[in-house]
Amino acid sequence: MALLIDGKKIAQDMVGEIKAESEKLGIKPGLVVILVGEDPASAVYVRNKEKDCEKAGFYHKTYRLAASTTQDELLLVIKDIEKDCNVHGLIVQLPLPKHINEEIIINAIPENKDADCFNPSNVGRLMTKKKGDSPLLIAPCTPAGIVELLDRYNISIAGKNVAIVGRSNIVGKPMALMMLNRDATVTICHSKTKNLGEVLKQADIVITAVGVAKLIKKEMLKDNCVVIDVGMNRLKTGELVGDVDFEDVKCKVYAITPVPGGVGPMTRAMLLKNTLMMAKRQKGCE
Ligand code: GUN
Repeated sequence: MALLIDGKKIAQDMVGEIKAESEKLGIKPGLVVILVGEDPASAVYVRNKEKDCEKAGFYHKTYRLAASTTQDELLLVIKDIEKDCNVHGLIVQLPLPKHINEEIIINAIPENKDADCFNPSNVGRLMTKKKGDSPLLIAPCTPAGIVELLDRYNISIAGKNVAIVGRSNIVGKPMALMMLNRDATVTICHSKTKNLGEVLKQADIVITAVGVAKLIKKEMLKDNCVVIDVGMNRLKTGELVGDVDFEDVKCKVYAITPVPGGVGPMTRAMLLKNTLMMAKRQKGCE
């Protein structure tokens, strides 16, 4: 049986560390979440983020706006929050109702409060990152959480073949840049990739975020590889499963993240970490 990478436990540790660091520095980081509409999954994610803020001792506030809120109204709310100096991080929960253009909203989030690190100017810094850059540079939460998990389990990245399945702006693309920045040899696979199994078989670390239940089977993996599963797929039975067929691969791989309890809690912990880093920057703690 593989080593189980316990994201839930590491995330709990991180929340404690973030709380201790804020207290030591005498700062109270503030996070605002904007939720538009009644998407049930988003409502659960936002409640969990509120609970994490409580645990970390952050100031937090959630704006729950009606599904009928217009794009201009949402832009005004963002403008208002921008002026509040108790707020260091601001996120708009996605997906947004269809009549609102997500790109326009993401672009409107001020760079220095962009706790998700979705704004193109912050994403761009991943591309140009170099040694000697500020240690307070933020990164998108899910890929940052994955790097943190690998580091805390002493799984080295430099020189490894890393295959990423999925090319989203939120996970796949920033993950590739972050792995490259850590000296991995990176391959990005997607829906048009030919012979996915042949590509994955070369990989020492496989990271998947495509939302296809149990897509990845043991024949597609190299012996003793590390598998990071970002997928969250609800089966008709109600069971929540990843993109990897966990039962099938668990005896072949060296280490694997479970679903749930793997990457998900780490994404939320990194949201707090980004908020703390932005609070430190705004207080001149660099
Ligand atoms: N919807 C699903 N995941 C996320 C996330 O990490 N941030 C935001 N803002 N919305 C999401």
